[in-house]
Amino acid sequence: MNTNLKRDFFKFQAKTTQFASGFEVDYAKGSYIYGKDGKAYLDFAAGVSVNTLGHSHPRVNQAIIDQVNRHQHVMVYGEYAQDNPVQLCKRLAEVLPAPLDTTYLVNSGTEAIEASMKLAKRYTGREEIIACKNAYHGNTHGSLSLGGREEKKRAFRPLLPMINFIEFNSEEDLNKITSKTAGVVVETIQGASGFRLPQDNYLKKLKDRCEKVGALLILDEIQPGFGRTGKLFAFEHYDFAPDVLVIGKGMASGMPIGAFVSSAEKMESLSHSPTLGHITTFGGNPVVAAAALATLDELIESDLMIQIDEKEKLFRKLLVHPKIKTVAGRGLMLAPELESPEYALQVAKKCMEKGLIVFWLMYSIQNLRITPPVTISLDEIKQGCEIILEVLNEN
Ligand SMILES: Cc1ncc(COP(=O)(O)O)c(C=O)c1O
Repeated sequence: MNTNLKRDFFKFQAKTTQFASGFEVDYAKGSYIYGKDGKAYLDFAAGVSVNTLGHSHPRVNQAIIDQVNRHQHVMVYGEYAQDNPVQLCKRLAEVLPAPLDTTYLVNSGTEAIEASMKLAKRYTGREEIIACKNAYHGNTHGSLSLGGREEKKRAFRPLLPMINFIEFNSEEDLNKITSKTAGVVVETIQGASGFRLPQDNYLKKLKDRCEKVGALLILDEIQPGFGRTGKLFAFEHYDFAPDVLVIGKGMASGMPIGAFVSSAEKMESLSHSPTLGHITTFGGNPVVAAAALATLDELIESDLMIQIDEKEKLFRKLLVHPKIKTVAGRGLMLAPELESPEYALQVAKKCMEKGLIVFWLMYSIQNLRITPPVTISLDEIKQGCEIILEVLNEN
């Protein structure tokens, strides 16, 4: 046991900000994270939309343990047939609409985005990729190039060439997608910029435009996927299917994973000319795949997704306060908007002091992030919302 955990965290572990809390975690179970201070913290963030089935779900834990005991890594991605990864890809093909029948498992969301861009270029033989202003697709060079905020990119230029931007929800901008475009990358719900929903059948119109000019529609479902909006994937609310579906985050309830799914015919193009068109050592790791399969099966077999609507309604009923301007988002991906980024950060900090974890959004910092485990109970929603209202009343 490290008695200097916080000190060593700040000393030895690289930082992403200058204001990390360094909260000392002991263990986590269900909707709670338990701190080394002996206190229970109700988790409204779920590791930023990751712990779909909460912390240490018994079915996920058992699947991990069983696989650890059978075998762990045995070969780089794509060579050997292993039960859990194959079963996971098969199950995804069963639950997804045509033509999404072939899955490539990778290690993170950003890697899945990178590989999807490569797939679009390789398959179409074209160079241009189009993304949306205010988008977030990850932090490696390729996915950062698709990011819609210049202030996050400037220091890291040069980034990828041939990336152009359109406005999310702008029908007019669809004309910028042409026969030169290899692929259009878009989030189903724009996450970082405020849980912005597609309007007026936008995604279907976008898909129609892509089809017309022969560009691939690459849909980033990394955050809303795996039941968070009441459907397995949020795009199922919007009456279309993408050419490439990109998933990650909540897919394995807490284990590191990403994947992209497309048709067998398109995916085949990554296996030749050149051979090894995308490769990854740990993609399809059997232990991670076991956790993902358990997560998917639990979502399919339980009534968790049916309950999302009731849970969203309860949040919306409770989160009414003069200091909350709007509550953006859908399902259990909600973002109450406060008066300023400074105030939102202060509210998040005070909530933590009272035993509730809420987080913030990457660009739209005046919004609080509410993305609890899909398994959260109605009572836990009430307890957490009471804390938020208490903090808003006191500050
Ligand atoms: C919409 C979206 N795309 C891509 C990513 C990148 O995923 P990862 O952090 O696993 O690389 C994220 C992560 O927050 C995301 O929310």
